[in-house]
Amino acid sequence: MKNYDIKDSSLASAGRQRIEWASREMPVIKIIRERFAKEKPLKGIRISGCLHITTETANLALTLKEGGADIVLCASNPLSTQDDVAAALVEYGIPVNAIRGEDDETYYKHINTALDNKPQLTVDDGADLVATLHTKRADLIAEVIGGTEETTTGVVRLRSLERAGGLRYPIIAVNDAQTKYLFDNRYGTGQSTIDGITRATNFLWAGKKVVICGYGWCGHGIALRAKGLGSQVIVTEVKPVRALEAVMDGYQVMPIIEAARVGDIFITVTGDINVIDKAHLQVMKDGAILANSGHFNVEINIPALESLARSERQIRPLVDEYTLKDSRRLYLLAEGRLVNLAAAEGHPASVMDMSFANQALCLEYMVKNRGSLEIKVHPVPEEIDKQVARLKLQSMSINIDTLTPEQKQYLTSWEQGT
Ligand SMILES: NC(=O)c1ccc[n+]([C@@H]2O[C@H](COP(=O)([O-])OP(=O)(O)OC[C@H]3O[C@@H](n4cnc5c(N)ncnc54)[C@H](O)[C@@H]3O)[C@@H](O)[C@H]2O)c1
Repeated sequence: MKNYDIKDSSLASAGRQRIEWASREMPVIKIIRERFAKEKPLKGIRISGCLHITTETANLALTLKEGGADIVLCASNPLSTQDDVAAALVEYGIPVNAIRGEDDETYYKHINTALDNKPQLTVDDGADLVATLHTKRADLIAEVIGGTEETTTGVVRLRSLERAGGLRYPIIAVNDAQTKYLFDNRYGTGQSTIDGITRATNFLWAGKKVVICGYGWCGHGIALRAKGLGSQVIVTEVKPVRALEAVMDGYQVMPIIEAARVGDIFITVTGDINVIDKAHLQVMKDGAILANSGHFNVEINIPALESLARSERQIRPLVDEYTLKDSRRLYLLAEGRLVNLAAAEGHPASVMDMSFANQALCLEYMVKNRGSLEIKVHPVPEEIDKQVARLKLQSMSINIDTLTPEQKQYLTSWEQGT
């Protein structure tokens, strides 16, 4: 039986070229891939992966395959799949179940097909695959050694599953590696969110009031890049320390109900629900643009937007114009889904190099430690995090200092003071 479902296999050669292009910027993954090819640490291990089907994911999947894994992929978002990459991966012998623009029913059908691979390892981005496995396919759990989770929202969901006593196998929170969130979430989401919005709208950032909801790692990155392009950045937050940090980083901070009245563009990146709600939509300026870069399309209350609208039309690809009953027009990008993946290509390969190096090394770690890891959400082992940083620096030909014996002694002693 065919274990893949893609849009069009004739796109494979374009996909192959783009995968190759991304690989130039993934030197750490290259080093791991070469070692995996020799050592085969994942020999015969069945993996089900639910990830954005992009050129960078392709390079990770090929690395895991090189390590001996039998991997089947599905998409972690209905709008992020690059159909040419999916076609190329199938040609490389990696079954992919993902079609850009698929409806929710097909999205879950594809997750189920990926699970039909009877995974021993799961690789998830947002925890939809793990949630399906725990609720609808629990019969498969006995064979699962462990899993990894790529993003903040997925880690939040898994920790909540663990707290509820429902988690059935160990999972490593790849998102929480320093070599992941400090770079991927900040510089990756920062640059690619601006890229997605620019591609969708041809928006001039200079002089615009850009409202960023959520000053987490992604919010930091988007704010920094918008500021660099000349925008007046306004941050909304619920955590006092992060709000204070935003103030001292030079941004205006105010509640969303106040920001709603002045913003030209709104970017949600909180991992929360209805951050832009009906009351906020009701006071926005005519022409305001709404975009989301958080994992799920629930950050902007789209049903409320629809209920306020008199009419709706697509005015450009990925730009929906809602004309409200009072004649104001609001523009929703990419149906409120991750704008950086839906309207651009997601994070640049150079940053995914580190995130996916963590993925590959954590999967290897899970196999090496099979049976001995406690059933909980684990942090990335510090040694893996450091190794990724070392390899990345090495690939950039950057050397750093090492502690002298005297410094080591000083830093671990208490005797010496004023
Ligand atoms: N677009 C991408 O490619 C991409 C990449 C990485 C992460 N993500 C997703 O982006 C989201 C944010 O990730 P992060 O790593 O920045 O998380 P984070 O936890 O570091 O930051 C989220 C911030 O949002 C704030 N927040 C929560 N509710 C809020 C509200 N109602 N109003 C204002 N602020 C609110 C929190 O206090 C927190 O400071 C997650 O859903 C994550 O999965 C997307």
